Amino acid sequence: MTTMDNIVPNLSAPPIEGVADTTTAYQQRYKGFYDQWGELLQTNMDRLQAGSFHLGWMDRDGSHWGTKVKPSSRGLTYMDMNRSKAYGTIPEKSEFRNFAPRGSIRDRYADQLPVIDEYDVLERMHVWSDNLETLYEEAKVRQWNSTTDIPWSELKPVSEDLEMATCQLSTFLTEVEFVAGDFPSRWIYRISPDFFEAKNFLVSQMMDEARHMEVFRKRALAGGGGLLHPSPAFEWALKAILESPTHTQGTFLLNVLGEGLVLSIFRAGEFLSKTHVDKEIFRLCMQDEARHVSYGTMELKSYLDAAPNREAALIDMHAFADIGEQVILTALTDPYILEPLAVLMGDGIKNIDDGMEGVTFLWATIVEEYLQRCDRAGFDRRAKCTIPLEYPWSA
Ligand SMILES: [Fe+2]
Ligand SMILES: [Fe+2]
Repeated sequence: MTTMDNIVPNLSAPPIEGVADTTTAYQQRYKGFYDQWGELLQTNMDRLQAGSFHLGWMDRDGSHWGTKVKPSSRGLTYMDMNRSKAYGTIPEKSEFRNFAPRGSIRDRYADQLPVIDEYDVLERMHVWSDNLETLYEEAKVRQWNSTTDIPWSELKPVSEDLEMATCQLSTFLTEVEFVAGDFPSRWIYRISPDFFEAKNFLVSQMMDEARHMEVFRKRALAGGGGLLHPSPAFEWALKAILESPTHTQGTFLLNVLGEGLVLSIFRAGEFLSKTHVDKEIFRLCMQDEARHVSYGTMELKSYLDAAPNREAALIDMHAFADIGEQVILTALTDPYILEPLAVLMGDGIKNIDDGMEGVTFLWATIVEEYLQRCDRAGFDRRAKCTIPLEYPWSA
């Protein structure tokens, strides 16, 4: 007969030579869990050895058996799924820090299921947005491939100053995309699986940002130039994004401020692209960034709407935005970013002054679009904005 003593590894045995310390620590950690895990395992072993069946999985008490979701014209979307009250009710606070899916018969197992300590984003207001499911569905159908969807072989040579400006801008964008992908990755893991729609969307954002990093790296090398200078000033702003204390604050900083800025730059792609290949890169990236900006804006709205004390939440967000807005100022004062923009907008280094007029115009657009997004989220920054409404450039 197999007993628990046979199943449970002997953890009081001296460490085996050659086994890494991390493995030994892992073993010790699981020794602490083995009472619960081992007991469940033992019960199952005993049943098997007695030749009997459990059939508890056929008990539908507490289930939502009989729910039949219907696909819409687009197929079976998350919106269709969540029309079912039983499965589509998103809890305000998640009580489950394990992998038991929302809508399953899970209450009765609460004492037996493990606890994932790292699942500590448990409040809906910190991850949810009303457009989340739609954005996720859109993200899936609009994936593209930087290897084959960009007509690389049609990239025609431009003058050296324009190529340098494009390569410098591509270097900056590559830096930005690293953070844009790493920020969601820091949070996806912490979010309770009850909010899997948010996890799914953030995974799609990571894929988008990986593709952007890839496409700008490729652009820098495909024209015969290469990557140029990183931007120390802007990397401090990127670090501030990555280290935001809450998901809502970081999403505001990354998606509303940072990506909003990038989106405005991509929209100016008409003036920045010297070849149709570059135009295509900006166009495709813009589609993706629009989703991320839209998520950030609506997530902030949903956070403020759901906050138990809206006034307190606003005071806190305003204090945070005072620092956050420096992301925009840092980008557009950094010569490694603004000068390539000016050269591209002016169509050459000799017209850099004309290009600065373009940058001045771009600034006004960036700031106004940012303030509009804040308005949409119910976060009025117009009187409080810490960055100049007019670009600080004297010709
Ligand atoms: Fe991106
Ligand atoms: Fe993005």
